[in-house]
Amino acid sequence: MKKGKILVTGGTGYIGAHTVVELDAAGYDVVIVDNFSNSSPDVLDGLESITGKKLTFLELDCTNPEHMELLFCKHPDIDAAIHFAAYKSVGESVDKPLEYYRNNIDSLINLLINITRRGRSGSVVFSSSCTVYGQPSPEHLPVSESAPLQPAASPYGRTKQICEDILSDSVKASEGALKVISLRYFNPIGAHPSALIGELPRGVPNYLLPFVTQAAIGIRENVCVFGDDYNTPDGSCIRDYIYICDLAKAHVKAVERILEKQDEMDGSIEYFNLGTGKGLSVLEVINRFMEATGVNVPYKIVGRRAGDIEQVWADPSKANKILGWSADTPLDVVFKSAWEWEKRIRAI
Ligand code: WQD
Repeated sequence: MKKGKILVTGGTGYIGAHTVVELDAAGYDVVIVDNFSNSSPDVLDGLESITGKKLTFLELDCTNPEHMELLFCKHPDIDAAIHFAAYKSVGESVDKPLEYYRNNIDSLINLLINITRRGRSGSVVFSSSCTVYGQPSPEHLPVSESAPLQPAASPYGRTKQICEDILSDSVKASEGALKVISLRYFNPIGAHPSALIGELPRGVPNYLLPFVTQAAIGIRENVCVFGDDYNTPDGSCIRDYIYICDLAKAHVKAVERILEKQDEMDGSIEYFNLGTGKGLSVLEVINRFMEATGVNVPYKIVGRRAGDIEQVWADPSKANKILGWSADTPLDVVFKSAWEWEKRIRAI
């Protein structure tokens, strides 16, 4: 007997795909939708290999109202939605703000219109980001959900703040019909242990770890470390790097809470910080990766990257306590998973 039908928008993306695996393993029926704007149909093959089944998939654009209406006509029995579908590059959002506002906000509004119009209760788990906190002040590190939000440093971060406001207002207006949990991710890294799915950066990667693995395998001369003159122990920026499979499991916990423990929810949107609770500098990432894999990673120190914050890491105690979840995969296992994935996609 299935535990419920879960819609996963952006379900062939990096976090979406890993979450599909964990939802399936937990006994949920999954409907994946994606337009492949930042992923590949090959991901569906990986998901089929891992889960051993052909999963329900519809290629559609969540910003297209007709597409979303069609989806909910075909699947009126969706019990909850996890909304990943969004553009997510901080740097790209600075260059293309209108594309980010249109895509990230329209897709959420289309989802909400359809999930609440059915005359059934609606449940949404939203993919948010620690970027809503900006650079927390020292007294707010590690950063908890009660930390003040800062003006977003990029249109990407701003879309996450706007979407959380839309969700909060929609929950209040729904008089209990809409339940929402917003998950604020720190820095997801690594790949599924099977090396059948992982982070597929198109072209130049956006995030640190793909640069590390590409420098390790030799398709990139070195990793450029964006600054070692910050006010941190080794001068490089600090982040909270969370294993992608641990992050995926948190989404299952959020779905379970929203579907099976609604009486514990107080009728307003709930926020959870998803991190390990430990900060790691860029230079520590590089050195710990080399220790874990035995592979050399050439790097050079260059100037700071515009828009970078100096240091942020999570206080995950609320998620630990209320979701019964923690990110505890050892770092060497995480780095090895990223390295195995890099070797596989380079067919070595
Ligand atoms: C990490 C650190 C860079 C590349 C992320 C994303 C998103 C969000 C969390 C969910 C920074 C340094 C990077 C490189 C480097 N989570 N770096 N050389 O900037 O924390 O942004 O925040 O939405 O995952 O928005 O991630 O991986 O780009 O950078 O030195 O070639 O690595 O300066 O200090 P970031 P990142």
